[in-house]
Amino acid sequence: MDRNQASRRHADLSRELHRHNYLYHTLDQPEISDSEYDRLFRELLEIEKKFPGLVTPESPSQRVGGAPLEKFATVRHTLPMLSLENVFTRDDMVEFDSRVKRFLGSTQDVDYLCELKMDGVAVELVYRDGRFEIGSTRGDGVTGENVTSNLRTIPSIPLVLKDAHPGLLEVRGEIYMDLEDFRAFNREREEKAETVFANPRNATAGSLRQLDPAVTARRPLKIFCFGVGAFDGEDPPTHFALLEMFRSLGLRTNQEETRVVRGVRRVIDFFEEMAGRREALPYEIDGLVVKVNDRNLQRELGEKTRTPRWAVAFKFPPRQAETVIEDVQLQVGRTGAITPVARLRPVEVSGVTVSRASLHNWDEIARLDVLKGDHVVVERAGDVIPDVVKVLKEKRSGQEHPIPFPESCPECGAPAARIEGEVVPRCQGLSCPARLKESIKHFASRAGMDIEGLGDRYVDQLLRLDLVENVADLYRLSKEDLFRFERMGDKLAENLLSAIEESKKRPLSRFLYALGIRHVGQHLARVLARQFGSLEQLARASHEELLAIHEVGPQVADSVVNFFRSEENRKTLGQMEKAGVMPRIEARRAGGPLSGQSFVFTGSLERLTRKEAQERVEKLGARAAGSVSKKTDYVVAGEDAGSKLARARELGVKILNEEEFLKMMDEVEEQ
Ligand code: IVH
Repeated sequence: MDRNQASRRHADLSRELHRHNYLYHTLDQPEISDSEYDRLFRELLEIEKKFPGLVTPESPSQRVGGAPLEKFATVRHTLPMLSLENVFTRDDMVEFDSRVKRFLGSTQDVDYLCELKMDGVAVELVYRDGRFEIGSTRGDGVTGENVTSNLRTIPSIPLVLKDAHPGLLEVRGEIYMDLEDFRAFNREREEKAETVFANPRNATAGSLRQLDPAVTARRPLKIFCFGVGAFDGEDPPTHFALLEMFRSLGLRTNQEETRVVRGVRRVIDFFEEMAGRREALPYEIDGLVVKVNDRNLQRELGEKTRTPRWAVAFKFPPRQAETVIEDVQLQVGRTGAITPVARLRPVEVSGVTVSRASLHNWDEIARLDVLKGDHVVVERAGDVIPDVVKVLKEKRSGQEHPIPFPESCPECGAPAARIEGEVVPRCQGLSCPARLKESIKHFASRAGMDIEGLGDRYVDQLLRLDLVENVADLYRLSKEDLFRFERMGDKLAENLLSAIEESKKRPLSRFLYALGIRHVGQHLARVLARQFGSLEQLARASHEELLAIHEVGPQVADSVVNFFRSEENRKTLGQMEKAGVMPRIEARRAGGPLSGQSFVFTGSLERLTRKEAQERVEKLGARAAGSVSKKTDYVVAGEDAGSKLARARELGVKILNEEEFLKMMDEVEEQ
């Protein structure tokens, strides 16, 4: 392929990839499979590798996150990003409507556009000549932080607008996280013993404030666009038409949940409808934004110092309530983590009775300065279990007690220890029944081996009847065993046994996740399954080989190596194998001319860094390993190569110098 051909193909691929990205992330109507998308994407990467000059900031390849920043620069918004006045009651809403009419000197009903008020982080995107140029946070409204590289990683933000775009367009919108994504994200953080976020808004804000865009790229962020800053096209007549224009340019809007209604009565009707539907939405909202729809009237109404006269936030009452912490219980998780959970005097919070709240850890207890017996404010915010947000210290009677840091496990009495850098103490007891219960539940969970029906109740009984000591025992259960359960019938027992049977063939990535190896969440389980292809290979992997994988850090590598080193785990795995548990092998990083081959780099290379060399072979489907074994296909030896080179000679592994390696790469890439 010459440069001209490459350039044409690159343009075609970019257009196609942008389109499929848009169909998937903005319209939610994909036309091709993920693997087809991956194939196009890899082709694009290959062209860019050969012709780096073709890489532009708008290339679909640039979404993965560029170089980390030292700090964020500031951006001055061309037009200030205003905030909104809040109203909380119907009367206040009617009062707002009267003010609007008074100002306009009219008695006629006004057309209002009612939008959902997304509970996320406001941003501005500047498009010049159709290209996404600068993205910033709202900041103080006048200047915000330049978070362009982070925003580029969000798939629903187009890097190029669709045809007929204006020369300059400043789009305003809200970045947010769906509740389901937020919960999965927090679960993964919990597994890694990282602090969890209190709500999706905090998770979103934290994700946008990452200096390393590669981190942001892994966070499930989305955008809804709802406003405009500077703009040099023809102004649409209504706010609704503005949203239509956004949509036609490829920007993501929330028109499905937007209503244009005449008169304030109907605004209140819609508010009440949404208050009822709020719990069923896939994301958090904290009310409506009610805007005068007519853009001319908006201009006529103008703005006060910091808020427009033509719009108002009609807020839902906060999902908070006051209650008392009656007791604090300690919960022991699968990894032995001990978390304090407050038992509350039951209280209703927006239609749901709440009787427990998570206190997270002892740092949080100290921060809140909360005592057993305290009057507190609890809030339901995105998570299923509510949070204690505030202690009402003025209500203390003197009968409150501190919440002691546990010295031992409340379930098995084994010592509990706090490992440096972690926020929770952990039970050190290997045969702790609480840990066993949680690990079986995790093993059987939907994201794990997906054993339908094996929930809390049955796991409890399995343990009470001493039927399981580890997850392998699940595969030895008989109908007779199950008949010892309370209220267990023939059909139920059969269903449960066949669900267990079916789980034997789950894909390797799920099996790895189900094992509950510390720090190996769903994402890493997939990475490991893809890289190693089989449990045996992974079990044999050295610390170095693991570290050679892009996403694996020392903590994960340690944890994996230790897991497979443990006598007890090996025994359990052996028992499962005997019982016929055979996770399906997953395709290695699919295809690629070098797929199945492994490379080890040693010594210093002159023309590229070791990381670049590794990425280069990985792009071609090969694996870059950290240590030399009989299975290594090539060792690339640079200056001062030492023991690995010697080992390669010993084992008769093919050795390449830098020049030979580069030549080989060029040849393979040509193919
Ligand atoms: S319009 C002048 N529309 O609410 C118009 N804002 O308090 C100002 N927000 O900073 C914004 N959803 O972060 C608008 N549909 C929506 C919104 C929305 C959420 C946020 C936005 C803004 C804050 C205003």
